[in-house]
Amino acid sequence: MRLAEGWRLRCIGCGSTRRRETDSFTCPRCGELTELVLEGSRPEREDIFRAGDISVWKYGSALPVKGAKPVTLGEGGTPLVKSARLSESTGIDELYFKNEGQNPTGSFKDRGMTVAVTRAVQLGARVLICASTGNTSASLAAYSARAGLSAVVLVPSGKVATGKLVQAVSHGATIVRVSGNFDRAFELTLRAAGKGGGLYVMNSINPYRIEGQKTVAYEIYEQLGSVPDYVVMPVGNAGNISAAWKGFKELRDWGIADRVPGMIGVQASGASPIARAVESGADRVVPVRRPSTVASAIRIGKPVSWRKALNAIRESGGGAVTVTDEQITRARSELASKEGIFVESASAAPVAALGALKGRMGKGDVVVCIVTGHGLKEQETIQWNTERLPLARNWEELARTLREH
Ligand code: F0G
Repeated sequence: MRLAEGWRLRCIGCGSTRRRETDSFTCPRCGELTELVLEGSRPEREDIFRAGDISVWKYGSALPVKGAKPVTLGEGGTPLVKSARLSESTGIDELYFKNEGQNPTGSFKDRGMTVAVTRAVQLGARVLICASTGNTSASLAAYSARAGLSAVVLVPSGKVATGKLVQAVSHGATIVRVSGNFDRAFELTLRAAGKGGGLYVMNSINPYRIEGQKTVAYEIYEQLGSVPDYVVMPVGNAGNISAAWKGFKELRDWGIADRVPGMIGVQASGASPIARAVESGADRVVPVRRPSTVASAIRIGKPVSWRKALNAIRESGGGAVTVTDEQITRARSELASKEGIFVESASAAPVAALGALKGRMGKGDVVVCIVTGHGLKEQETIQWNTERLPLARNWEELARTLREH
């Protein structure tokens, strides 16, 4: 099917462009990933940043879906919360958290899903498929339900937070557990889709997902009234950092903003193929065969959007940081207990990285950590014991407990 007026699919490798979607979303010439680009005309500031509440669809003039009725649950418009207490310990005065856990299904995935499912409906797709560490499957399941389409999700067996699986079950998706990790589930997803049978792939290889997710950059710009110095975010399959970077780059290239932020990708030390490539200056990513981390959402060894992510980090003058599971767990707890923001482990990774970035970020820098998913989805990694909580069987016991605290 033809792309929306003015839009082209461009290969990130050989640069060739086309006006129609390719079946696999990759370049038929060189096999690289593609991205959607607007050729010729460019949106004006007033088109994108017109008055009104922020949301993904407010930025419709910069999205490659025209004339379609959006499949929406009210995504985007998430709060940009200024740090109340962590800015002190990190030495960053202007520290913000973009709280993506406030999206309809509790993660940033909804931004991409609303756009990609809208496109899928336009294309007449019936069965949508993805591999997932959990959040993509929850989001796909919800938006498919909304659109009246079927969803099939492949998840690494035993490696997905229960809260996310429960969401996918509730929204009526067909869930297939795969032996192995996310990378294996993703391989099988592409293989299944490649066999025909009308399966439409909804992983971030689908450039419509990236288009929806780029709106986080527009929102940060609109909420701050300027471009931050640094954006720090977790990296798994590397779609989201590519998307946020695309959004900031567009604002600059369209003459709306005068600069771009440094993009800082954060990975868990046991699953850090991109950070390793950045550190060593390599121009390719070496996959990690057995990725391991407490942050199950980013337990990924072979990120599909690695080239886009390396471009984002290098072109923006940003960087990459690895954090240990202990640092992630501590940051998650601090974000909850000192800032009132409850996130899942992967989302705490950028906050965990702030210590390592101390020397690099000056006092006057404006830093935005994108915290990507809600903590309620991933409860099993929090250490606590109901039996140890004080129990008041009567007034005296309550009074004693209150005196002791
Ligand atoms: N944070 C959370 C909460 C995630 O769920 C993910 C990815 C990421 C960060 C990393 O984003 O993959 O675009 O680099 N979750 C995917 C999923 C893989 O299946 O839900 P990325």
